[in-house]
Amino acid sequence: MNPQGFVDTVRHNFIVGNWKMHTTAAEATQLAKAIANGMGVMSGKDRVSVAVCPPFPYLALVGEILKGSCVALGAQNLYPEKEGAFTGEVSPTMLRDLGCIYVILGHSERRHKLGESDAFINQKVRVALTAGLDVILCVGETSDQRKANQTEAVLDRQLVQGLVDVPAEVLTRVTIAYEPVWAIGASGHEATPQQVQDAHSLIRRRFARMYGEKSAQAVVIQYGGSVKPENAASMLTANGVDGALIGGASLHADQFLAIVRAGIVEAQTKGKSA
Ligand code: 13P
Repeated sequence: MNPQGFVDTVRHNFIVGNWKMHTTAAEATQLAKAIANGMGVMSGKDRVSVAVCPPFPYLALVGEILKGSCVALGAQNLYPEKEGAFTGEVSPTMLRDLGCIYVILGHSERRHKLGESDAFINQKVRVALTAGLDVILCVGETSDQRKANQTEAVLDRQLVQGLVDVPAEVLTRVTIAYEPVWAIGASGHEATPQQVQDAHSLIRRRFARMYGEKSAQAVVIQYGGSVKPENAASMLTANGVDGALIGGASLHADQFLAIVRAGIVEAQTKGKSA
């Protein structure tokens, strides 16, 4: 048993780069090539799963570069309809067509800057899974919510409402990313490994109440919030952390690869493999 009361289970480490609204076509090309090449020569790479999520316009470009590599392609969002009169939107079918395996949903930037509700995010989660995309569902409290002792309530709400009507059978295709809003980006405050561990434990407990202990032990929970080469080892070794969702540092191949390496070291120590 670990200190949170869960029987230690060997889950895999999943490291994902969220490029957000960054890069030009030339930069995306260079970055994807550097990551694919770096991963190609990395020892122990079979111990972790790795993906990058470029902006929509570069998905095809990056997808071509990643073909044959061990880096998977993901998208940062979708619209929860197969097709239709939804000007400016992108469907899960299109993402699958472009070779996407994953989609990030419920990112705090979409929740807070674009006003996405839990119900809308849930719709996206269900449609993505039905279309064959694996989901990375982001949850996380704001600084004010943490100060008001609402962290648990917020995480509970985002999980429960985000996963309405998502059956246990598809949970192996759902990753949770804990991203405290106050820790994201250059102006964020770095969370301590203890804060990360505590939040991951809350999430796993909620999962156990929703889907049972076995599913809770199996669910991959990434940490996201200013993960950098300098803090990767301490974040990734925190109890209950199964990899990272990385923003800023994922735009630099050397930094992203250094975090992947930290994930491999942690996986080797714990006997994990992808
Ligand atoms: P940073 O790594 O830049 O803090 O971003 C985290 C994030 O939002 C990843 O989705």
